[in-house]
Amino acid sequence: VLCLTHPTDPRWAGLALADLPVLLADHAHCEMKAASNALSLSTRWPAPTRVAGALAALAEEELRHFRAVLAELDRRSIPLGRPEIDGYAAELRRLAAGSGRQSPEGSLADRLLVGALIEARSCERFRLLADALAARGDALGAFYDELFAAEARHFTALVDLAIEVDRDEPRVRERLAHLARAEGALAARLGVRPTIHG
Ligand SMILES: [Fe+2]
Ligand SMILES: [Fe+2]
Repeated sequence: VLCLTHPTDPRWAGLALADLPVLLADHAHCEMKAASNALSLSTRWPAPTRVAGALAALAEEELRHFRAVLAELDRRSIPLGRPEIDGYAAELRRLAAGSGRQSPEGSLADRLLVGALIEARSCERFRLLADALAARGDALGAFYDELFAAEARHFTALVDLAIEVDRDEPRVRERLAHLARAEGALAARLGVRPTIHG
């Protein structure tokens, strides 16, 4: 799927659906983090105003996703609970930051690419959930179907924004391939847990 180098373990969707309260609460936290990350990157120097505007619009959409997942939790009387420590996202940002000397444009482009990879992984997993739910005739499948399409769009949008910031498309594509290999190794190491990125 997209640029991912390591496919999710086929057991993951079954495991995640067996623990729906944990999965949905984790998913809600992920949407909030996506919104907050997009909003924070929108004001990060040296983002051009057009890029800042696109990131603010992305933050609004992620906020709508957050509210939609909160409504699903509410419907099922599942508490939101505390956010888990997000080792996956933290490790990805660390990998991007540890890439040596970079221009401010290059560092911002890397942060956008890390965001794009998180979108790609969510997108892959929402597809698996949508299919597993549809096979059970569960209406939640349509919800994940919609989110799958949104995350696929976000992946492309964030890669395009990284190119706009860096203004060197071949370099950005090369960085994306490098970070995607690191993301694949990380996903393989994390094993199978009932969370969106676990
Ligand atoms: Fe989202
Ligand atoms: Fe997204």
